[in-house]
Amino acid sequence: MRMKQSGRPLCRRLSILLLFALFLSGCRSDGSPAHREGIRIGVALYQQNDTFISTIVSHLESLARQREDDSGLKITLNIADSRGSQATQNDQIDRFLSAGCDVICVNLVDRTAAAVIIDKARNADIPLVFFNREPVGEDIMRWSKVYYVGAEAGKSGVMQGELVAEAYRKNPAALDRNGDGVLQYVMLEGEPGHQDALLRTEYSIKAVTSANITTEKLANDTANWNRGQAASRMSQWIEQFGSRIEVVFSNNDDMALGAIDACRAAGIDPLPFVVGVDATPPACESIRSGELKGSVYNDSPGQAEAILTLSLALAQGRNPAQLLEFDDEKYVWLPYQKVTLETIDTVIPPDP
Ligand code: GAL
Repeated sequence: MRMKQSGRPLCRRLSILLLFALFLSGCRSDGSPAHREGIRIGVALYQQNDTFISTIVSHLESLARQREDDSGLKITLNIADSRGSQATQNDQIDRFLSAGCDVICVNLVDRTAAAVIIDKARNADIPLVFFNREPVGEDIMRWSKVYYVGAEAGKSGVMQGELVAEAYRKNPAALDRNGDGVLQYVMLEGEPGHQDALLRTEYSIKAVTSANITTEKLANDTANWNRGQAASRMSQWIEQFGSRIEVVFSNNDDMALGAIDACRAAGIDPLPFVVGVDATPPACESIRSGELKGSVYNDSPGQAEAILTLSLALAQGRNPAQLLEFDDEKYVWLPYQKVTLETIDTVIPPDP
C-alpha cells in the first residue's frame, strides 16, 4: 500500500510510522518501557531445582531465543525461584505486576493460593498462565484471562499401572518373585495435596487391579518428588521388608531413581520392578541401562512450547484459540506416553 506523502505534517507521519512499527512487533502501544522493549514474561517457579521443572525452564529459554530470532521481537523471560515458599512467590509476582510484565506464568507453590494472585493480576489487567501445578477449577474460572498448561495426571497413573500389568503378563515370575500370585509393592508419593501425586497414586493401582492382578501394599509415604528423600524412605522399607518388595511405584522419576540408589546401597540384586513418571534425561539413562523398568513421558518441550505460544498471544492481544486447542476455553493438555527399554528410542530419540 502506498501512503500519500504530501500535505501531512511531519510529526503525524512519524507517529503513523511508529504505530506501524509497534503493530509489526506485536507490542501494545501504551508507551511503558516494558512495551517499548518488546515482550516481557514473568515466570514464577515453585522450585527451580526440581528436575522436571528445570527441564521446562530450559526448553522455555531456548524456545524464546528461537522465536526472537524468527520474529525479530525481543522476548525477555524474568525467572523467579520461590524455593518452596508461597509468601516469597507472592512477593515475586507483585514485583512482576509492578514492573509491567505483559504476562505472568505461574508454577504455584500451593495450589490453593491462586485466588489472591488472580485478583491482583485482574486489577492490573495482566494475563496469567498457570502451569504444572493446577489451581482448583473455581479459581481458574475467576477471570477470563487465566489459563492452565499441563498434563492430565490421572492418565499418567493409568499408564504407569499398565506398564506393570503388561510386564507381568509377559513374564509373571520376573515381577512376582515369591510366586504367591500377588504383587507386593511400595508407593513413593510426591507432595501431599499435589494433583499429580494424588491421581498417580490412585490410578496406577487401579490400572493394575483392573487387569485382574492382585496387589498387596507393603508401605507408602511421601518423598516430595525428591531423590534423596525417596532413597531414605526406601532404605527403611528394605530394612523392614527386604526382598519382599517386588514392585516400586513412584509418582515421579527422581524418587524412582532414589529407590534404585537405596537398593544398590543395600546390595539388593536383582532390583525390584521400579517405575516412575516424567522420562527425565537421568531416568532415560537408567531405562537404557535396564535399571528403571519404565516411565511415563511428561512432555516438557511440548508444555514449554504451549506456555510460550499462549504467553506471546496474550501479550500481543491475540486470540490464543487460533493457535492452541483448549478444553473449556482454559486448559491446554499435553499427552503422556509410556516409555520402556523397547519403546524409548521411538518416544525419545537419543541425542545424536
Ligand atoms: C510433576 C512431575 C514431578 C514434579 C512436579 C512438580 O508433574 O512429575 O516430577 O516436577 O510436577 O510440581
